[in-house]
Amino acid sequence: MHAKPAPVLGATNQGLQGGAGIIRELMKNIVILISGSGSNMAAIVRAAEQERWADRWDAQVAAVISNRADAAGLVFAREHGIATAVLDHKAFASREAFDEALMAQIDQFSPGLLVLAGFMRILTPGFVAHYAGRLLNIHPSLLPAFPGLNTHQRAIDAGCKFAGATVHQVTADLDHGPILDQAVVPVLASDTAVTLAARVLTQEHLIYPRAVAKFLA
Ligand code: GRF
Repeated sequence: MHAKPAPVLGATNQGLQGGAGIIRELMKNIVILISGSGSNMAAIVRAAEQERWADRWDAQVAAVISNRADAAGLVFAREHGIATAVLDHKAFASREAFDEALMAQIDQFSPGLLVLAGFMRILTPGFVAHYAGRLLNIHPSLLPAFPGLNTHQRAIDAGCKFAGATVHQVTADLDHGPILDQAVVPVLASDTAVTLAARVLTQEHLIYPRAVAKFLA
């Protein structure tokens, strides 16, 4: 584990009403969960840096947590001075036990926003309820079409002419929940699941930071 305490407490998305308008009292900590390459996480971190989210909205990516120690995205996060942690789900007897430990780990960073970015775990209802209203996910399909896995092959097999990605709030219903943003790409006759996934991923890197920013603003 490689973690440092969050410098400032997280906050809700509300702020406090003051004489001069909305006064944000506390830093909004963003915690991002990954399992693999973490390219969506990296896109969010880069946007936070380039668009100065700290100055504009008192928001920072406080931690990146992975359930896999070999997740390449952890290296990127460390290089950008972000606290990282690994919690191996295989070390826990049940999904509930893992989610309890994960919540304890996440809550050390007092998150105002929890972002799932290629986090390949099904979450328990208790976990989802704990972060209700501050939990976002990106899914590589045009929801409500193709929830679940193998979205690109399923879109090709169904003869779809268009595919895409969806940023949504997470609810207890897997890959459902209010849609915040979507991007559409064409499905080409020559596409394989790999080429379609790559085209969709370039769009994910645009819509996920944009949706997070909108959520914070
Ligand atoms: C993305 O396509 C995301 O939509 C899906 O898994 C992939 C993760 O990619 N859930 P990365 O780890 O962000 O590079």
